[in-house]
Amino acid sequence: ESRQRQKLLELHEAATVWFEEQLRSPEGATAREYLTGRGLTPQGIAKFRIGFAPDNFNALRDRLKGMADEATLRATGLFSFKELEDGKPGPLYVRFRKRVMFPIANESGRIIAFTARALESGDKAGPKYLNSPETPLYSKGQVLFNLDKAKQAIRDAKFALLVEGQMDCISAYLAGIANVIATSGTAFTEAQVRLLRRHTTQVVVNFDPDTAGANAAEKSIALLTEEDFQVKVVTLDDGLDPDRYIRERGVPAYMGALRGARRHTDYLVERARQLFPPVTAEAKVKALNYLLPHIRRVPSRIARDEFAADAAQK
Ligand code: UTP
Ligand code: MN
Ligand code: MN
Ligand code: MN
Ligand code: MN
Repeated sequence: ESRQRQKLLELHEAATVWFEEQLRSPEGATAREYLTGRGLTPQGIAKFRIGFAPDNFNALRDRLKGMADEATLRATGLFSFKELEDGKPGPLYVRFRKRVMFPIANESGRIIAFTARALESGDKAGPKYLNSPETPLYSKGQVLFNLDKAKQAIRDAKFALLVEGQMDCISAYLAGIANVIATSGTAFTEAQVRLLRRHTTQVVVNFDPDTAGANAAEKSIALLTEEDFQVKVVTLDDGLDPDRYIRERGVPAYMGALRGARRHTDYLVERARQLFPPVTAEAKVKALNYLLPHIRRVPSRIARDEFAADAAQK
C-alpha cells in the first residue's frame, strides 16, 4: 500500500472523527434535529458515523494541516481551491459546509469519501447531495455503499437488496435488513458487479418509483442479467422511496413489499405494457422493440425463450 494512500486514509479517518464531533457540538444542533426528524437515533448515527460540516471555510483544514503537506490535503477531495495566475493552486477552502456528512467506506470499512446532504433546500443550498470528487482513494462507480457492513448478511441471505440512496440503505439496515447496499444514485456499474459477485449473484432491486429510479433500475437489470445474476424488482407504491416507505408504513409492510418482488422479466413486460399500452399494432411493435434487447441479453437459451414467449403473449 502506497504511502500516499495510507496518508489519505488517515486524513479521511480524522475528518470523519471531526465531523462526528461537530454534530455533537452546539453548532450541530440543527443537524441533530434534522436527523432526529428523519427517524435516526444516536445509535444509528454512531453506527454509520454520520457527522456535520459547519458553515466554516477553514476549520477542517486547520484541523488536518498538521497531518500532511498541502498537495496531500488537496488529493483528499475535501477542499476546493482556485488556480492562481501563475498556474499554481491557490489556498484550500473546505468543500462541504452546512451539510450532514455520510462517510463512504470501502469493503474493509475504511472511510474513502463522503456524501454530504444539504440541510436547507433551495438554490442557495446548492445540490441536495454533494459527493467527494474522484480521488486516488475513491471512484464513485467502484464503490457499493454499505458493502462493508452488509457482506456477511448478503452471504447468509443469499441475496443483496439494492437501493439508490444512502438514506434508503441506512433506514433499511437499521430496520434489521442487514443485506442492503446502495449505488448512491446511479445505475449499477461493471465494477460494482465485480465487487458484488464475490458474495452473491442474486439481487433484489428497489429503486425509487420515479423516472430516474425506473431508468436506473432498467440499466442495472441489463448489466446484472448479462452477468448471469438473478434479478428481482420491487416497486413501492405512492411514490415512496425505501426510506420513506419504512418510516411511513413500518418495517413489516416493507418486508411484505420485498416478498412481493417480481422476476425481472415480469417487471420489464409490465413496464413495456405501461410505456406502450398494447392496444394497437404499432404499440405492440414498440413494446416488443423495447423488450428485445432485454430478451437478447439473457444468457440461458431456455430462460430466453421463455421470456420471449411471455413477452409475445402479454
Ligand atoms: P434522490 O433524489 O432519490 O434522493 O437521490 P432523495 O431520496 O430525494 O434524498 P433524501 O431522502 O431527501 O435525502 C438518490 C440518491 O442519489 C444521489 C444520492 O446518493 C442520493 O441518495 N444523489 C441525489 C446525488 O448524488 N446528488 C443529488 O443531487 C441527488
Ligand atoms: Mn429526490
Ligand atoms: Mn429519486
Ligand atoms: Mn429519500
Ligand atoms: Mn429517493
